[in-house]
Amino acid sequence: MAINNRREFLIKTGKYTLAGLSVISFGYLLNACEQNESPIKTEGPQSFDLTEYEPLMQVGGVSYIFLKDIPDPLIVIRKSEDSFLVYSSVCSHQGCNVDVPAPGSDIMVCPCHFAKYNVHDGSVAEKPNDGTNIKGLKKFVSKFDSNTNVLEVMM
Ligand code: FES
Repeated sequence: MAINNRREFLIKTGKYTLAGLSVISFGYLLNACEQNESPIKTEGPQSFDLTEYEPLMQVGGVSYIFLKDIPDPLIVIRKSEDSFLVYSSVCSHQGCNVDVPAPGSDIMVCPCHFAKYNVHDGSVAEKPNDGTNIKGLKKFVSKFDSNTNVLEVMM
């Protein structure tokens, strides 16, 4: 009887051990798969189909453009049929997102402490309300293909 109990104990323990190892292995496998995903691309050109950003389909239009892997959008302004201004929306004061300019406006305003940036070159037009000296907005070079309506931004 004692041998049977011991045998049953070993069989049950073995089953539970195998089940436990299977769960651990499956978890490990899932984790490995997640780690093998393609690395997130944060540098290099990124392309945007402007038909998805209606305000940018006409000259003078302004819009945020959202990158897949970066939480802060870009500010894009269409200067002419084939040229665009592209800025990071990250305010150089404390990192808030600068508002897109009103169409036709010469300034972009940060809503946090009201720093103002020049639409034409991203330079500082007015310091934030605490008087801190800040840098202009980061500007990106872009290239537009009017046949495809794709704007390529060099990141
Ligand atoms: S974070 Fe933009 S003005 Fe302060």
